[in-house]
Amino acid sequence: MATVDQRPTLRTEIAGLSIPKLAAEHGTPTYAYDAQIIKDRIDDLKQFDVIRYAQKACSNLAIVDFVRKNEVCVDAVSAGEIRRALAAGYRTQGEPHPIVYTADIFDREALELCVEHNIHVNVGSADMIDQLGEVAPGRNITLRINPGFGHGHSQKTNTGGEQSKHGIWHGDVNDCLIRADRHNLVVTGVHMHIGSGTDFEHLAQVCGAMEKTVAEVGRTVNTISAGGGLPIPYRDGDERVDIGKYFELWDRVRNRIASNFGHQVRLEIEPGRYLSAESGYLITEIRAIKRMGDNLFYLVDAGFNNLARPILYGAYHPMSICPASGVDDNRSMQDVIVGGPLCESGDIFTQEEGGFVSKRSLPVANVGDFLVIECAGSYGFVMSSNYNSKPMAAELFLHNGEAFVARKRQSFEDIIRGEAIPS
Ligand SMILES: Cc1ncc(COP(=O)(O)O)c(C=O)c1O
Repeated sequence: MATVDQRPTLRTEIAGLSIPKLAAEHGTPTYAYDAQIIKDRIDDLKQFDVIRYAQKACSNLAIVDFVRKNEVCVDAVSAGEIRRALAAGYRTQGEPHPIVYTADIFDREALELCVEHNIHVNVGSADMIDQLGEVAPGRNITLRINPGFGHGHSQKTNTGGEQSKHGIWHGDVNDCLIRADRHNLVVTGVHMHIGSGTDFEHLAQVCGAMEKTVAEVGRTVNTISAGGGLPIPYRDGDERVDIGKYFELWDRVRNRIASNFGHQVRLEIEPGRYLSAESGYLITEIRAIKRMGDNLFYLVDAGFNNLARPILYGAYHPMSICPASGVDDNRSMQDVIVGGPLCESGDIFTQEEGGFVSKRSLPVANVGDFLVIECAGSYGFVMSSNYNSKPMAAELFLHNGEAFVARKRQSFEDIIRGEAIPS
């Protein structure tokens, strides 16, 4: 299996564009997404009948539009994500369903939108079946099943098993079929997503669980979804998941189901991280360098308000330095801790799960140099906040040698919009 070579720790360009120039034109911190990398990852998955982008990973309209133009369908987990899919040009009707709403509840807005636009629903609770059936009987639905086990890169991203709130418990399928019948809803799809950043062994276990559940639901099923969860190599030496082998496992299951039922069965995959993570770079500027006893800190102008994965999960992101001059001047390395500007001691990008600070070997840097946090295109910008009244970063979409401003940096007025002082 292919492993990832050592990534450069000194980088002057992203997608052929000069980092100091991008920073001068757009400021920092700024996310930059390399469209070619998204395209390459889409191409990796072309064996699957349907690639459905889990836009929760990175839902900027430019990215959602780009995947749409590359024949990728989309998953929406909220009313806002349905609206994003529509704004990015997705149709509501068609086979395969261009947009699927996947959730464990309907809030009132999401239910209204699904009914109004006849959006296919992947239900994650029995209550959703009743709520949809009461206002829109006769529709086709998918059941999201919790197979009784799960796995993620962190316990917080494990979406299966008894401790997870996600999906319909595998033992409750019959109850859901009875409810669906009551409302004339037809179960045409079965979906399983056991976690995010899962490993191959756990993903492979889902195949058996899928076959069992589909047999229970019966011949109305014409689509199975393997969910998302594909990992990406964050660390040097991490292996790339063997997509060919993964597809073969699922293809065998799909073929057995199809031959039992005597009709074709579509095979979907629903990646988020796999499509967008490696495309994303968070460009920051080093604003202070200070020593605390034995520890040297690079303090940059992005914090966990911009990228929360390290504080949430102890997630590791590759990092590189770009000299302010933009010239690779062959610097020596030193061990540093990388932190942000927030008034919170957890605002550290080099930390392990549990909040333990760790050191990273990076080139010697000066205030004014840039520090690029890499593989930040999934669960990066989308989890940002205005903590400490910090504006959300700008987002650039790098395509065909140009940097398109996919989102302007927030202004102070954006931050306080909607607030008021009582008279
Ligand atoms: C229902 C569903 N599908 C797909 C995904 C995408 O997961 P990943 O980004 O790991 O591919 C998620 C994320 O947890 C999810 O909840």
